[in-house]
Amino acid sequence: MSTLAAWSEQQYRRSIAGMLQSFGPLAIVKERAGFGQHMRALPGAVVASPVPGAYDPDPDYFFHWYRDSALVIDALRLASVHDGEPTDAWSRCQQFVHFSLALGELDGRRLVRNPAWRAAVAPAFHQYLRPDEDLGAAHGAAVAGETRVNPDGTLDISRWPRPQHDGPALRALTLLRWLRGAPVDESTEAMQRLLRADLAYVLGHWHTPCYDIWEEELGSHYYPLRVGAAALLAGADWLQTRGETGAARDCRAQGEAALERLEAFWDAEAGYFRSRGSGAPSPPDKALDISVIMAALHSADAGDAAAHAGAAAHSVRDPRMLATLEALAGLFGACYPINRDLPAHRAPALGRYAGDRYFSGGAYYFSTLAAAEFCYRAAAGSATPAALRARGDGFLETVRLYTPADGELAEQFDQRDGAQSSAKKLAWSHAALISCVVAGGAPPPPAGRGGARTTITPP
Ligand code: NOJ
Ligand code: NOJ
Repeated sequence: MSTLAAWSEQQYRRSIAGMLQSFGPLAIVKERAGFGQHMRALPGAVVASPVPGAYDPDPDYFFHWYRDSALVIDALRLASVHDGEPTDAWSRCQQFVHFSLALGELDGRRLVRNPAWRAAVAPAFHQYLRPDEDLGAAHGAAVAGETRVNPDGTLDISRWPRPQHDGPALRALTLLRWLRGAPVDESTEAMQRLLRADLAYVLGHWHTPCYDIWEEELGSHYYPLRVGAAALLAGADWLQTRGETGAARDCRAQGEAALERLEAFWDAEAGYFRSRGSGAPSPPDKALDISVIMAALHSADAGDAAAHAGAAAHSVRDPRMLATLEALAGLFGACYPINRDLPAHRAPALGRYAGDRYFSGGAYYFSTLAAAEFCYRAAAGSATPAALRARGDGFLETVRLYTPADGELAEQFDQRDGAQSSAKKLAWSHAALISCVVAGGAPPPPAGRGGARTTITPP
């Protein structure tokens, strides 16, 4: 049996290839017969999964989700900085930027005014269509809160939980990280335009209710607040370096206010950060949720003052975060059958929250990988780095055990038998593997393999 390091190295490459399968253009023509749609993914679109599903039983993930795609574009950056394996990373990022900017022109009011498209929708599917009021509100800045769009660059006409505020925040963070590796010149003009639009969205919306990242409850949630705060604080630094003092001051003040609000999510009695604000209409058993751990990972390292500060509140170095992770490991360790009688070298497979009923109800690759990545990142600068690294390896060993030989990663692996479930070939699962392996210190590729190191600097 190969070592964990050897497996990680191999799976890292498979995940890059797997993730790139979600990038448009794709040869696939997606038929959504009930909706009278057939579409192709444009260059720059990133579908959540390239496998066409129609709830038969696998879900239809042939959409460009703002959250998923931002995480994928960030993993592409990490991989290109790390070893240059993904070809043309810079131009793929530019395509993503242009695709994203074009979405700003979408206007749901046109669909309301010219309802001819409704004739192509099968009667049985009318129940899934967005009401006119909802569709008509999708224009201008609101488009960035749409949760997802079609990969052909049109609005999603189906009912879906909206708005979500984390998408534009994550995209801003990703753009800031890409921009840090690039010279400021005209080739980044489009990136900067998109970044400014995303910062403006976050500035205007962070304090208003949105759906949680699992798309289930409208309210105030830890994850969107945390990534919103990080985007505003890192955005403030960026604006400051450009001499835009007033705009920087606004972003900083709002970012600090958002960060401050997160304090109320700490539940000292339970010993973890709650994923939902008090008063949010959600079952109490959703309070302990892996999205909090993901928030610490996805908000880090973009010039975010909080992540750099000694106290490091709400970052991987916040001891309350580690307590939250251990509470999650305890929860899933006790309730998933596949976590029974774990050998000493493995840590439990994790899900989203207790009582999840979506498909097999967990486990999830991105959850278990987030736990591993968290431990690797927390190890740096900790007093007990070896123990944390070993813990990280424990989670990664579990992902390894439930990864098939071909390296494909679905959204979930069944908590009873480990079989893959929900969307197949989930781009976010691969992105999570890439960022985890890079955080764990993936070795660079041997010379002569994978070509020369590609940086993200434009040609
Ligand atoms: C329920 C699932 O839990 C969630 O993750 C999915 O995206 C939504 N259904 C859509 O609302
Ligand atoms: C369901 C997850 O709950 C959501 O966060 C994700 O964006 C979609 N799947 C697409 O992967």
